[in-house]
Amino acid sequence: MSCAIHPSILSADFVNLEAELARISTADAVHVDVMDNHFVPNLTLGLPIVSRIQQVSPIPLDVHLMIAEVDRWAPGYAELGAASVTFHVEASAAPVRLAREIRQRGAKAGLALRPATPVEPYLDLLAELDLLLVMTVEPGFGGQAFLEVMLPKIRRARAAIDGSGASVALQVDGGISAETIERAAEAGADVFVAGSAVYNTPDPAVAISHLRALGNR
Ligand code: DX5
Ligand code: ZN
Repeated sequence: MSCAIHPSILSADFVNLEAELARISTADAVHVDVMDNHFVPNLTLGLPIVSRIQQVSPIPLDVHLMIAEVDRWAPGYAELGAASVTFHVEASAAPVRLAREIRQRGAKAGLALRPATPVEPYLDLLAELDLLLVMTVEPGFGGQAFLEVMLPKIRRARAAIDGSGASVALQVDGGISAETIERAAEAGADVFVAGSAVYNTPDPAVAISHLRALGNR
């Protein structure tokens, strides 16, 4: 199975976003972390800036919404042309309806789980999804340590996806680096978000190809 590497611009220089996007042009997509200081204790960017990123990005946008009232806001990110829109199940009142609204607007629909949120209640929804995101840190900040205790959840999600026959990517986000990516891949993840491990290096392209080689299993 060939993996995908999605660098997170949370670790990029926010006043030079266009140049920072060009530095990761060999990536499979760019991961855009939207935070509202309610769902998580941090604030990043919203629709107007993500819309401009979409216009100048050489690669597809993987939008990760860490916001309250996500049922209200997520469809707008699909409308602006994001390749995928991932929302937290803890923030949605109607995740099935929301996933359908995202798909109807031409984007892939992703469901994200905080570390303490079990995957089992959502396994019957796999056919409604294109992506399942198992957070491997508490969402909110880059540069945190990978939560090893998430490995069993990744394994159970992989087994359920394979058993369902649905085409669902299994993404991990948080603490992914050359030291941790192989364990996440072995557990069954196939889409890897990496912020600090890509941007806090002299050459992001080298970091991306190194991670890609390690993440293929
Ligand atoms: C954290 C964000 C992540 C973050 C990952 O809440 O969702 O996407 O950028 O950063 P690293 O790879 O440094 O853990
Ligand atoms: Zn993220």
